Amino acid sequence: MSTSLIKLNSGYDMPQVGFGLWKVNNDTCADQVYEAIKAGYRLFDGACDYGNEVEAGQGVARAIKEGIVTRSDLFIVSKLWNSFHDGERVEPIARKQLADWGIDYFDLYIVHFPVSLTYVDPEVRYPPGWENAEGKVELGKATIQETWTAMEGLVDKGLARSIGISNFSAQLLLDLLRYARIRPATLQIEHHPYLTQERLVAFAKREGIAVTAYSSFGPLSFIELNVKHAEGAQPLFEHEAIKSLAEKYGKTPAQVLLRWATQRGIAVIPKSNNPKRLVENLDVVGFDLKEEEIEAISALDRGLRFNDPHSYDLPITIF
Ligand SMILES: NC(=O)c1ccc[n+]([C@@H]2O[C@H](COP(=O)([O-])OP(=O)(O)OC[C@H]3O[C@@H](n4cnc5c(N)ncnc54)[C@H](OP(=O)(O)O)[C@@H]3O)[C@@H](O)[C@H]2O)c1
Repeated sequence: MSTSLIKLNSGYDMPQVGFGLWKVNNDTCADQVYEAIKAGYRLFDGACDYGNEVEAGQGVARAIKEGIVTRSDLFIVSKLWNSFHDGERVEPIARKQLADWGIDYFDLYIVHFPVSLTYVDPEVRYPPGWENAEGKVELGKATIQETWTAMEGLVDKGLARSIGISNFSAQLLLDLLRYARIRPATLQIEHHPYLTQERLVAFAKREGIAVTAYSSFGPLSFIELNVKHAEGAQPLFEHEAIKSLAEKYGKTPAQVLLRWATQRGIAVIPKSNNPKRLVENLDVVGFDLKEEEIEAISALDRGLRFNDPHSYDLPITIF
């Protein structure tokens, strides 16, 4: 099964549907990545913070060794964690992450959050998470410009083909675009019918920046993390607007949610620990919702954000 491609401003093609690696269990991650490649996935969305880049790389290596794909068939994404925003920390940590994956370049390397935290030595704790070596959340001193300049250095050295940002507001993006020598290729944001972010999506598109949606299923991903307002939100899979369309098209609610996003020109990276759902989530471009159906789903927008540091009681205000 193949997926459509999005042309990035860096000149590279990015698959519109990929596999998200957050909360993919370490003991099953290698197999899951290998099975995902066999099922047709070519894009993997990883991060230092997910703590499973070694295992994901093992899955990739097995698929390449068995001749299922070559490295150039794949689009591997990773992210710079907050503790490594200081200019001189960016390249060493990117090199460590590449070594963990067992590859020599990332197709896309993303600034995970617009938040600089103080450095944590990977020898002390890895991935570091939000707290420093003393267990405190402590802001670092790097500006976004300092970090972005170091990210551009990764492209110059061939360590990343494209670079991007995540969890950035339009204001930050406006600023970054003033000084960026290499423009961000993608903006990765929380995006689902309860948080459609219309203006930010339109702004990114106007600026030639591709948008990738994360947490496409809304509250579902956050219930296991005990995010309280996720537990209180009506599950999107049970929402009549989604359920009725799933019945109409003979698809699952998950497929309707992913198709709604892809028809809006947005890339998606659903995560599943389940082999059957993994296959289902890739099969999301073979049917089309009508324009009024897309609008009806978009009308569910409530500005409801789940992936906010405040949801995890972290004293970091970015939204
Ligand atoms: N940049 C960022 O800050 C950021 C933040 C969050 C996420 N992300 C990225 O985006 C990816 C996706 O987001 P996400 O992991 O939050 O959530 P998601 O893909 O919206 O949802 C995952 C949840 O949905 C379930 N699920 C998956 N497919 C399903 C299906 N077809 N039917 C029913 N249930 C299904 C999963 O359970 P099972 O595993 O049991 O199937 C899991 O509970 C992440 O893995 C990560 O790569 C990035």
